[in-house]
Amino acid sequence: MVNVAILGFGVVGSGAAEVLTDNRRVIEKNLGETVTVKRILDLRDFPDSPFGALVTHDFNDILNDPEITVVAEMMGGSHPAYDFTKACLEAGKSVVTSNKEVVANFGAELLELAAKNGVRYLFEASVGGGIPIIRPMVNDLASNEILSVNGILNGTTNYILTQMLENGAAYDDVLKDAQKKGYAERNPAADVEGLDAARKIVILAALAFGKLLNPNEIHCEGITKITTEDAEFAKDNGYAVKLIGHAELVDGRVLAMVSPRLVPCSNPLAGVSDVFNGILVDANMLGECMFYGKGAGKLPTASAVVADIIDIVAHRGKTERAPKFEVAAEADYADFGAYKCRTMLAFADKADSYEKLEALFGVTPKLSHGRIVLVTKEMTEAELDAKLAESGLKVLSRIRLL
Ligand code: HSE
Repeated sequence: MVNVAILGFGVVGSGAAEVLTDNRRVIEKNLGETVTVKRILDLRDFPDSPFGALVTHDFNDILNDPEITVVAEMMGGSHPAYDFTKACLEAGKSVVTSNKEVVANFGAELLELAAKNGVRYLFEASVGGGIPIIRPMVNDLASNEILSVNGILNGTTNYILTQMLENGAAYDDVLKDAQKKGYAERNPAADVEGLDAARKIVILAALAFGKLLNPNEIHCEGITKITTEDAEFAKDNGYAVKLIGHAELVDGRVLAMVSPRLVPCSNPLAGVSDVFNGILVDANMLGECMFYGKGAGKLPTASAVVADIIDIVAHRGKTERAPKFEVAAEADYADFGAYKCRTMLAFADKADSYEKLEALFGVTPKLSHGRIVLVTKEMTEAELDAKLAESGLKVLSRIRLL
């Protein structure tokens, strides 16, 4: 029998206890032994929960218990989650987590610490909720060079975009609904302003390119500036509007970014709706490979946490190949100005703007829902900035194409 502890009995933490209990038989069958929750750390008490008697408010009850060999951290936030993780690894306990903030900020250090102490640090649930993506990137794609990663990585914003743009729902109602369903972060600004997706794309970029960028230092735009007119333009022209995390190498350096994109309907990411996430990995031998499933929510995310616990128990005593990446140095960051793509631009409908824009961009602008709209040829961010400055026109919307 293996004893585990849960740190944080919120949406995902209580889900992990539920998965371990409700799926006890299938886990026993797959693993050949029982996994039992011995202690749960939380600031609150849960007198009505069947797990209420396991709750402690003292982390030392877990740290100093030699019977607890695996700890599942689902507290959210950097502190004290990072500090507790570090203490557990140093004490020879393996740690699994759904906490993308800790992985994105401290993942390289914690992996190194785990290796030094002969234990493991696994984080399958930190990206894509229940979708297997970390383990496939580390193991199944190991024979490939990764060319790019494009992902719908935030369930809350995808739910909001789908409900608003496709079903005409109001922003506040949909956000409340996403919170009720347990998709949204405690502070939903992390979802709608793109930071949650930024944390996830830097984790995927680290697995793909070996360098862990700082999620606060990459280009990051959320969904709050998308307008009804943008949505109408997208609909009329065969695009879906999605918040996309993108990573690739530019001039040999790592570029990771988050921004809304117009995704052509022929791209499989265009069909990823509601709380679902989709991650399209382009690998040099395999080609494109899509990972799809529920990217947020209690049981989907908890099932990935429990899969990591099972992995640790199944490989106990053996040296498993761990993800390998290091904190990016300044020179590892690509110049965002050198990133190339096509972009949709919208301007106010003024008669003298048409010719000016056509001369500058070499494409014919069109009237769309009361605005002048054009889609540029492929050009770098720096070239586009320079042309916009030269035009002297105020840009109403600037959305990149995928
Ligand atoms: N708030 C996150 C999302 C939870 O909506 O995707 C899962 O990481």
